[in-house]
Amino acid sequence: MPTLFVTGTGTDIGKTYVSCALIRALKARGAVVDAFKPVVSGFDPKDAAGSDPARLASALGDPGALFRIAPRRYRAPLSPNIAARLEGQTLVLGDMVIDAVARAAEIRNGLLLVEGAGGVMSPLTDSETNLDMITALGAPVLLVAGSHLGTISHVLTALVALRAVKTEIAAVVMSESLDAPDLAQTAQALASFLDGAPLFLAPRAESWDAGALADHLLTKTRAP
Ligand SMILES: Nc1ncnc2c1ncn2[C@@H]1O[C@H](COP(=O)(O)OP(=O)(O)OP(=O)(O)O)[C@@H](O)[C@H]1O
Ligand SMILES: [Mg+2]
Repeated sequence: MPTLFVTGTGTDIGKTYVSCALIRALKARGAVVDAFKPVVSGFDPKDAAGSDPARLASALGDPGALFRIAPRRYRAPLSPNIAARLEGQTLVLGDMVIDAVARAAEIRNGLLLVEGAGGVMSPLTDSETNLDMITALGAPVLLVAGSHLGTISHVLTALVALRAVKTEIAAVVMSESLDAPDLAQTAQALASFLDGAPLFLAPRAESWDAGALADHLLTKTRAP
């Protein structure tokens, strides 16, 4: 499993938070890990530190990796295709897929985390969504969700869409939302609908110890 596509039930849900925690946990276990963000919007070069690629680079322990992690960076905090168009560019799914495959090929016995933009069916181009990129890569998915009221429906609809294109669900992570109902109770309510997908909980904290998730993914990676 050299590539893991990190997607979410929506934007601002915890994909980067979970990815950074996972990178740290994988590195702590001696695993080779890298990150790729096919496109980032809302990127301000003068204030790059809080951006997704900067956070991923920091977790990798390589602040200079920002530009390698995210070769397509656009200023407008809008859907990537619209943000790109505002800078006179057109995003092409095939180019993003080729880049991801090339980046994964650079890794021997390790894992490339690909963080999509927004949710499972958020547009990447004018006619394609993250789901099309997931399908093209044939990569297993880590689905990140919040714990807010309504999240169960968001998770289950995302899983229906992913499974419709035969995507392997590596795991679901519920990252605790602000002002949300009890995390354990919400997770328990979701668990019985997951149909075998493993569920991990990331409680609200400065940082999350993703050790159990890392162990789960490494077990799958090393399986014959
Ligand atoms: N479990 C958590 N504990 C503490 N903070 C969290 C948690 N989950 C998410 N956050 C915070 O919520 C904010 C949004 O999370 P994050 O940036 O990871 O979302 P995202 O899904 O990657 O967003 P985007 O769609 O912009 O890529 C960040 O400030 C992040 O640190
Ligand atoms: Mg993010």
